[in-house]
Amino acid sequence: MLQQDQRGRGRRMEGLPTVLPVKARQMLLFKENGSGFSDPAFTENRQEPIHRWVPWVAGFSSQFVREAIEKHLPKGGTVLDPFAGVGTTLVETIRRGPSYRAVGFEVNPYAAFAAQTKLDAVAVNPSAFRAAIVRFRRETQTTRPLMPPAGFRSRVPFFSPRVEAQVLRVLAWMEDLRPAALLDLFRLAFASVMVKFSNYTYEPSLGTRASAGKPNVEDAPVVLILESKLEEMASDMESFQLECPFPGQGIVHSRTWRDGEDILGKNSVHLVITSPPYANNYHYLRNTRPQLWWLGFATSTDQTREIEEQSFGKFWQTVRDGPEVKLQFGFELLENLLDRVRHSQNDERIYGGSGWANYLATYFNDSFDFLKKLSRILAPGGCALVVIGNSVVQGVEVKTDEIWAHLAGSKPAGLSVEALEMVRKKRVGSSILNSSVRSGASKGVTLYESVLSLRRRKNRSN
Ligand SMILES: C[S@@+](CC[C@H](N)C(=O)[O-])C[C@H]1O[C@@H](n2cnc3c(N)ncnc32)[C@H](O)[C@@H]1O
Repeated sequence: MLQQDQRGRGRRMEGLPTVLPVKARQMLLFKENGSGFSDPAFTENRQEPIHRWVPWVAGFSSQFVREAIEKHLPKGGTVLDPFAGVGTTLVETIRRGPSYRAVGFEVNPYAAFAAQTKLDAVAVNPSAFRAAIVRFRRETQTTRPLMPPAGFRSRVPFFSPRVEAQVLRVLAWMEDLRPAALLDLFRLAFASVMVKFSNYTYEPSLGTRASAGKPNVEDAPVVLILESKLEEMASDMESFQLECPFPGQGIVHSRTWRDGEDILGKNSVHLVITSPPYANNYHYLRNTRPQLWWLGFATSTDQTREIEEQSFGKFWQTVRDGPEVKLQFGFELLENLLDRVRHSQNDERIYGGSGWANYLATYFNDSFDFLKKLSRILAPGGCALVVIGNSVVQGVEVKTDEIWAHLAGSKPAGLSVEALEMVRKKRVGSSILNSSVRSGASKGVTLYESVLSLRRRKNRSN
């Protein structure tokens, strides 16, 4: 247990470069000495059947999930991923067989669609899918094109004219495809490759090819590219179905994790394996704008703004110029950290410290709410594994994993904090936001990822 007072405050330890009290650190942090977990990063999924269908920044590896299920839930039960992304946890759960149920929540409709389509693929007849691919190749050239999505704007034309003409034919052909499960597979294939033949690129945020020093794509064999993606998907489906003839059931709710308790009920989940957005302001929605608009999940900017509001921790862009956001719980060390951020580069107003402090306060208020709900939704004795990394904001290191450990063990959440293990060290890089890293203020900070293992106590009443 962490040392804390009634309000969940950590004991103040002057000069300690961490948010956790010394004793808690000694008990919890096994950071330097290798953990029992595999690297949770998504990179390996790029080669793995089904997981390779859709790349997702900050997705995690299937092997990590497999090992976690094997260790914590070997005989079946309900596995939840409240930040399901493109469904790594859920696919691995149903692969274990019919005694498993996978449930996900995902606020980004495109990611939710990708995850659900992967889960549904276990029941699609691969021969029917292959027959549809053959028809697709033969018929698209003669199909009457659709119109591009009204309301989708981009700084430079998203597709060059010759590419766009092919895209509009391809989408028109798909419109009539039935049954719906086949249509979903085709739509997912298109969404997964569409940026490849566009004038945009992921670096890892979405930007114009020109700004990344790459030439525009004037023309591309759109049908061929799609066909090769579809063939890959068909062969993955065949091997998955052979390997796993009786999969578990899986559902993804295209809504916020906040609805989880109402939909699933208290004490209903045996294992949670998840990776929430990190405190690095990665804008999942902006980065998937093309897929959201071209697949018809977004039809107005009001709609995307609403999803932004529901997103975990919101975004810096959403909260930077609002009134000062206060923490909704007492935690002196975190308050001090926010003060440091708030008073950094204040001359730049919203682009300086106050906007970033608002962002972090919103992020940790959501974290606190999430952990309280998590403890209610877990069955007594149930376990949650949370993969989370640190970040550097305005030159200040934010040890999100340690803050989460503290909040999870505080009285309102009341979870038992079993371990905090570093599973991956990265080089200084993408989680550094507006920091003075170049001027040396954040020198020596290593970005890492940890697995926080939490357990709902058996004898705790709700
Ligand atoms: C780090 S990613 C998870 C990736 C996932 N582990 C995978 O392998 O694909 C975090 C996800 O949380 C989602 N998210 C953000 N706010 C959310 C909310 N309020 N409810 C549910 N999901 C949310 C984001 O859209 C993003 O897909």
